[in-house]
Amino acid sequence: MAHSTRFSRPCAALVHLLCFALPLVTQTALAAVAISSPSSPPAANANVVYSNFLGISLELSFINYYFGNSTDQIPQPVIKYLSALQSRASGQPVRLRLGGNSMDSSTYVPSQQEIIQFTNPNANFNDQPVNYGPQLFDVMKGVSSAVGGAQYLIGLSLRTPNSTNIPLLAGDASKALGDDLDALLLGNDYWTVFGNLQHTPQGDILSQDKIAGPTICCAWHYPQNNCQGKPQYGLNYYTAHANAVSLARWQQHGLELIAASPNRKPILMDEFNSASCGGVDGISNTFAASLWTADYALQMASVGYAGAYLHTRERGITYNLFDPPDAVAGGAGAWTTNPSFYGMLPVAEALSSANGSRVVDLNVQNSMSDKSATVAGEKTNIAWGGKTYAGVGDATPVDATFSSSLPDKTLSCSGGCTIQIPGPGLAVVFLGQTFDFSNSSSSSNTTSSSSPSAPASSNPSNRSGSGASRFSVTGLRLLSALCVFAIALAL
Ligand SMILES: *[C@@H]1O[C@H](CO)[C@@H](O)[C@H](O)[C@H]1NC(C)=O
Ligand SMILES: *[C@@H]1O[C@H](CO)[C@@H](O)[C@H](O)[C@H]1NC(C)=O
Ligand SMILES: *[C@@H]1O[C@H](CO)[C@@H](O)[C@H](O)[C@H]1NC(C)=O
Ligand SMILES: *[C@@H]1O[C@H](CO)[C@@H](O)[C@H](O)[C@H]1NC(C)=O
Ligand SMILES: *[C@@H]1O[C@H](CO)[C@@H](O)[C@H](O)[C@H]1NC(C)=O
Ligand SMILES: *[C@@H]1O[C@H](CO)[C@@H](O)[C@H](O)[C@H]1NC(C)=O
Repeated sequence: MAHSTRFSRPCAALVHLLCFALPLVTQTALAAVAISSPSSPPAANANVVYSNFLGISLELSFINYYFGNSTDQIPQPVIKYLSALQSRASGQPVRLRLGGNSMDSSTYVPSQQEIIQFTNPNANFNDQPVNYGPQLFDVMKGVSSAVGGAQYLIGLSLRTPNSTNIPLLAGDASKALGDDLDALLLGNDYWTVFGNLQHTPQGDILSQDKIAGPTICCAWHYPQNNCQGKPQYGLNYYTAHANAVSLARWQQHGLELIAASPNRKPILMDEFNSASCGGVDGISNTFAASLWTADYALQMASVGYAGAYLHTRERGITYNLFDPPDAVAGGAGAWTTNPSFYGMLPVAEALSSANGSRVVDLNVQNSMSDKSATVAGEKTNIAWGGKTYAGVGDATPVDATFSSSLPDKTLSCSGGCTIQIPGPGLAVVFLGQTFDFSNSSSSSNTTSSSSPSAPASSNPSNRSGSGASRFSVTGLRLLSALCVFAIALAL
């Protein structure tokens, strides 16, 4: 599992734990695993990521179940979920993407009053086309204002590149969202779309430098395909860190090319989740998915992605982050928080340095290639930092009372320390002192005032700190408690 350390600020280690209910105490304790710091800092041009690394990709057809039908009916729970991310994001806007299969099959109708209209009652369950109107962009803007800032990606159709509606959509979205529009994602045949975007009723969209793409269809965003209801992998796949390492390599060549290019553009994973076509019951809706989400996100950060968007569809889909109520679109009722949402919280906190972080996989116990796993099948009783959404319908987390939930802790770590993590589980450890790459056991008493700015991280002697950079971790069952220790270096 991803276990992130961030080195900065004075004082001892603060440990946040992602836990779930299990009779952990009956299990045998295993030996401590020693974690050593990297011997040299990441290269100066290493990928820099921010606390809003993980975003949410929302399926177009069901957007009004999440955001409501109009700006004055935005459901409070969705504001709370997004605010929970925004408040951990060091002032960075929450990443949101409007997309999914339905984005490709749907039509923008500029004259439509309703936000969403279903157009084909016999459509494939995994691809339900709609007509959508300009109200959608006002509601998106309203959500952004209510959560203190969001940045949107909007997919343009993969299927009808020369549709005259695409420039209308691009123009209207751009006008309504303004700076909240991060980029328009171009699909197939993007040269055709390029030309059209220069001449929209709202002006030349191309000149705004808000075009991203191409978006690539279809199976690659997911570690496995469940479209036929026959999953290839079980739970063990997700708890073995080595699988996250291989999965994150699928675009390695492209990532390397872009990293080497002088005019480096950010690379986004614009849609992913644990299994395609709605996920797998017993995997996508379990604690294993919480852990996998955090592990794979940090792995993507370490190999060069700038951000990644977890996909969420209509109520009842197993991989959803949270489910709207069993009601009409935007209707009142209890929301449900699902395991993968918990995985987003530690990622935001691990990357919380306002100046960005560089993530390094420490390959602890050879975990990048050695697959060992155990079971993490809990669905509901999951906590982060002692708080849980279990049994909560309004997206306001409460104190977790189940026995394996552990509150945040502060430990004295001068000269090293031992941190205990229930397994399976995940901890984010913030080490107090500035970090010394040159000698992990030195002690020069530098305080946080020498906390490195970005380029200084390539200069080890300017990053000296006191000897707290070695620590060991014990878990009641370490086998998969910690598939990996990724270290997020604060800039
Ligand atoms: C769109 O382009 C395709 C081929 O690229 C062409 O067959 C089709 O007629 C075009 N449609 C419109 C509406 O221009
Ligand atoms: C939102 O709009 C949909 C589609 O028009 C409608 O079915 C639903 O009842 C509306 N929701 C509310 C809360 O009015
Ligand atoms: C690292 O620190 C230890 C203890 O302070 C010291 O003995 C050792 O020489 C140092 N190594 C280097 C390479 O500076
Ligand atoms: C580090 O600072 C503390 C308190 O400021 C002091 O007691 C200690 O001797 C210092 N250690 C070193 C190695 O300078
Ligand atoms: C970010 O960088 C600035 C300028 O280098 C520095 O003053 C500031 O302390 C840094 N902030 C954090 C949280 O490290
Ligand atoms: C530390 O960094 C400063 C400014 O970046 C530089 O002038 C100084 O020489 C560095 N110190 C060492 C020991 O490299």
